[in-house]
Amino acid sequence: MADGSVDPRPIGMFDSGVGGLTVLHECLVALPEEDFIYLGDTGRFPYGPKPAAEIRGYASQIASHLLSLDVKLLVVACNSATAAALPWLQERLEASIIGAVHPEAEAAVKITRNRRVGVLATEATVASGSYERALLGLDAGLEVHSQPCPKLASLIQSGDVSSPEMVDTVKDYAAPLKEAGVDTVILGCTHYPLVSPMLQRIFGKNVTLVNSARETAREVGDTLARKGIANEPGREGRYSFLCTGDVDAFVGVGARFLQMPFDDVRHVEITELERMGVA
Ligand code: DGL
Repeated sequence: MADGSVDPRPIGMFDSGVGGLTVLHECLVALPEEDFIYLGDTGRFPYGPKPAAEIRGYASQIASHLLSLDVKLLVVACNSATAAALPWLQERLEASIIGAVHPEAEAAVKITRNRRVGVLATEATVASGSYERALLGLDAGLEVHSQPCPKLASLIQSGDVSSPEMVDTVKDYAAPLKEAGVDTVILGCTHYPLVSPMLQRIFGKNVTLVNSARETAREVGDTLARKGIANEPGREGRYSFLCTGDVDAFVGVGARFLQMPFDDVRHVEITELERMGVA
């Protein structure tokens, strides 16, 4: 902490559904003393096939809702929402807001040796060009190969991560990046860490996978320290969850993502969120 001060308020985090729990997991490992309020927009999942303006609208409603709960930092734990809305939210809201994309772009630039970087992400994230901008902003000489993976997040969410369909889908998406000879691949979607052993086998040992969830969590820790708003060291954090879809379904899939009991989960109506967005 910068000046030894403590900020006991929770951190707000949101995602299109349960995928952002991979970011929460990394935060719980790195920052066990922090409290978190996580909102999963399961009622409107997936974001990946939706136009940027629609995703921006959802992100703005959710950000306003979480800020109304007095969070000290807002984490956009969704790559599609980050790509569509992060700078837009930062310009309009008086709050510290961080997201994915930049943290893992920085990591990838440090890791790559042949300066060929691959990105696996949703259609919305790839179409936004966010990863290209972030990567080329750090090293204009990089070759960036982005692969949209329209089916992958939903397949992972449906549960059977070892089905032949899953293996074939992952192989298809990996093929153009292998062909391009990338030595570093950003997993640019919250769900993909759940199939990273399979991806590592498909790409082989000479390719480094960059886990966007881990890099985002690192950025959360750095931001708390830089701003002097971390919670008291040594305490045990508390976690609560909100979702816009069915609570039982959220708990079922969420427990698989996070591997821990979900005690405090509440439903939030989409109509309630719709009253909150910023223009
Ligand atoms: N959280 C979303 C992302 O990282 C998962 C995929 C989706 O909503 O389409 O892009």
